[in-house]
Amino acid sequence: SHRIKLGPLVAAIDQGTSSTRFLVFNAKTAELLSHHQVEIKQSFPKEGWVEEDPKEILNSVLECMERTCEKLTQLNIDISNIKAIGVTNQRETTLVWDKETGEPLYNAIVWLDLRTQSTVERLINKTPGRNKNHLKHKTGLPISTYFSAVKLRWLMDNVDEVREAVVSHRAMFGTVDSWLIWCLTGGKSGGVHCTDVTNASRTMLFNIHTLEWDPELCKYFGIPMEILPRVRSSSEIYGLMKSGALSGIPISGCLGDQSAALVGQMCFQDGQAKNTYGTGCFLLRNTGPKPVMSDHGLLTTVAYKLGRDTPACYALEGSVAIAGAVVRWLQDNLGIIGSSEELEKLAASVGTSYGCYFVPAFSGLYAPYWEPSARGIICGLTQFTNKSHLAFSALEAVCFQTREILDAMNQDSGIPLTQLQVDGGMTSNRLLMQLQADILCIPVVKPSMPETTALGAAMAAGSAEGVSVWSLKPEDLSAVTSEKFEPQINPEESELRYARWKKAVQKSMNWET
Ligand code: G3P
Repeated sequence: SHRIKLGPLVAAIDQGTSSTRFLVFNAKTAELLSHHQVEIKQSFPKEGWVEEDPKEILNSVLECMERTCEKLTQLNIDISNIKAIGVTNQRETTLVWDKETGEPLYNAIVWLDLRTQSTVERLINKTPGRNKNHLKHKTGLPISTYFSAVKLRWLMDNVDEVREAVVSHRAMFGTVDSWLIWCLTGGKSGGVHCTDVTNASRTMLFNIHTLEWDPELCKYFGIPMEILPRVRSSSEIYGLMKSGALSGIPISGCLGDQSAALVGQMCFQDGQAKNTYGTGCFLLRNTGPKPVMSDHGLLTTVAYKLGRDTPACYALEGSVAIAGAVVRWLQDNLGIIGSSEELEKLAASVGTSYGCYFVPAFSGLYAPYWEPSARGIICGLTQFTNKSHLAFSALEAVCFQTREILDAMNQDSGIPLTQLQVDGGMTSNRLLMQLQADILCIPVVKPSMPETTALGAAMAAGSAEGVSVWSLKPEDLSAVTSEKFEPQINPEESELRYARWKKAVQKSMNWET
């Protein structure tokens, strides 16, 4: 058969909250050659709890790899051209497994999970001045249900299997990146237990200045350091694939998904920013080689460290818990839409929320409020309100939440963003993109290749020392095409709607105390 001659290829595993993907890129052109996607089930065993099955997560990765390889073969592309694999993942989601049996000891506790709310409130109450930013000087983070440390603490306190494994030195902790890399590099027979600086920076056990696990933080949360993975840079060879069609290929990139999107959007300069619309919505702004602490409710996080001897770059981050998740909720819980495309049609049919405001604070409110006791509300209803207005208000909620983050970001940096680079699944919704430009009063720019998260992980993997096949530089990509949405409503109207939104947010606060 005629095999197509291509240069080196680089692959990426993108394990998100709602789905898993495997994608293969041409390392010379960054062209996406093939990919496969599998949805991930979420379970909600109790109100506010969110779990996923670690085995299902792993199997979804294996399935995506297998199917993508089949697709490549059908395209006459030789899979032996794949020179490296990068991993990018939903962050903070917490797993513990047994290193001798290789078995997970509980479900993965997903970042959105609220079971640690009372623990978090207790911890904050114990700090001098009830200060949720008590650990921020080291971690860049407020004490919140969002991060891994409290989830891990919950597992040790409530799951016998976890406690026993910790006592008998068989427990391994990891976020999804660690779990996958350990399994793919051999699992119980020699798997590599590691994470990268970006994922580590979301655990609340990591000192973002020294880039090491922090003994004091571990003591504070009562976490034995021996269960933690080794922290490495975001771009180096961690280990080799142990089995399957891609056996022997190095895994050489690892970044939390929001960091990967920043890299994939080529935001390498101080001041450059991107907003990714996934399950949640995350705006990150590169602040260069020094961490900048926010005065307006944003997180300070490690953006990337692209090589063992390369300095780290940091970012300010505004995290919104619920973006795409509100679409899934309208579909699965209310049944008013059958698909996300239907949401766009429904909302477009009215073109206004008619005064209906929907604050989807399902997991409390994240940035800039950090209010675990907030809960979702829908307000401003009249007898005129129908499901189309509700659909519109759901899309508007995503845009207003982004506006709050953008305002905080502009206040922190003093240099307002003049346009917003966006990516992620929801950006295929053109109504949402236009609405976002209207509500921000600045243009919104969307790259034509939407898989920027995977691209970032592939770049990290392909450029790692010992791989060095990723030949593109950011300047080569200046020709990358994008689409621009200009604001179309007048700023006064935009401000009026935003002021109403803020009022609605106030009503959602202090609900579940
Ligand atoms: O912090 C959580 C984030 O990493 C999840 O991303 O794309 O699954 O919404 P996503």
